Amino acid sequence: MTGTPVQQSATDTRRIAVALGERSYEVRIGAGVRHDLAEVIAGIGARQVVVVSARPPQETPDPGVPSTLVRARDGERDKNLSWVEELCRRFADAGLTRSDAVVSCGGGTTTDAVGLAAALYHRGIPVVHLPTSLLAQVDASVGGKTAVNLPHGKNLVGAYWQPRAVLCDTDYLTTLPRREWVNGYGEIARCHFIGAGDLRDLPLADQIAASVARKAQIVSADERDTGLRHLLNYGHTLGHALERATDFRLRHGEGVAIGTVFAGRLAGALGRIPERRVTEHLDVVRHYGLPTELPAGPGTGELIALMRLDKKATDGLAFVLDGPAGAELVSGIPADVVAATLDSMPRADA
Ligand code: GLY
Repeated sequence: MTGTPVQQSATDTRRIAVALGERSYEVRIGAGVRHDLAEVIAGIGARQVVVVSARPPQETPDPGVPSTLVRARDGERDKNLSWVEELCRRFADAGLTRSDAVVSCGGGTTTDAVGLAAALYHRGIPVVHLPTSLLAQVDASVGGKTAVNLPHGKNLVGAYWQPRAVLCDTDYLTTLPRREWVNGYGEIARCHFIGAGDLRDLPLADQIAASVARKAQIVSADERDTGLRHLLNYGHTLGHALERATDFRLRHGEGVAIGTVFAGRLAGALGRIPERRVTEHLDVVRHYGLPTELPAGPGTGELIALMRLDKKATDGLAFVLDGPAGAELVSGIPADVVAATLDSMPRADA
């Protein structure tokens, strides 16, 4: 494994450092780590906090200082600027100052919106994330990307604002519905191809820790997404297109899973990887119980048009692809090769 070494404490908590100079922070992973919140808040020196939680009050840990609980609006529909304004108003009502802190407790839409509100309020106050979905634990809560949606598209208004700590409590995952697991495992599967190593036979907490460790290493090297951080979007170009083409009936992790199988086939078609590595893409995605076929419905032309809108595509069609030296962003890929690769993919029945 090439990720940042995972520190495992006596209590079985995995600790991973996101190294960003004086903005460095720790991600703790394990059962019950939410109860470290009071220690983390004491370390920040906050005198009071606002906790924005999508979980019932009894599942929100004691921050150890006076607190105000705000019920989160967890979901893409409410991930917008009016919710961010409402959050900032609630921070002001509570009298939060720049030396206080905000805590988010919920899925990726909660950590994204609360993170952005924390970035904007008083031009930035400390935020601690307690992600409660697998997707948020392995990806969304780590790395400081905060954003909300516009009617024009997802995550179009945001800021880089690193948390002071992330507490990934695996107890929160025990009640997740199956599609939520799939959503998170899509991101874990793509880690196999971006340098995290083979995570298939590891216990869940170690899969999360290894995914976070690889992300921490990438974010430390390229916080502002100017190069290396593109690797985190492995499988995402087709994945995002599939989400949009199905009006988000396909979940993010499902799209990324199909996009990962496609990325393997495309890399094979371009002669970048041998056939056995193309098959490895299918095997890994299948191992996690993820979809591998294109959904019925969206046609090749529609998917290519959507993929041309990808933010990375400054020169024709661009994909993060595996190759002899590992994954990298490859631009200017001919549309006919992309179309032929899409057409070669099996399709689910309508
Ligand atoms: N979710 C991709 C990133 O944080 O860059």
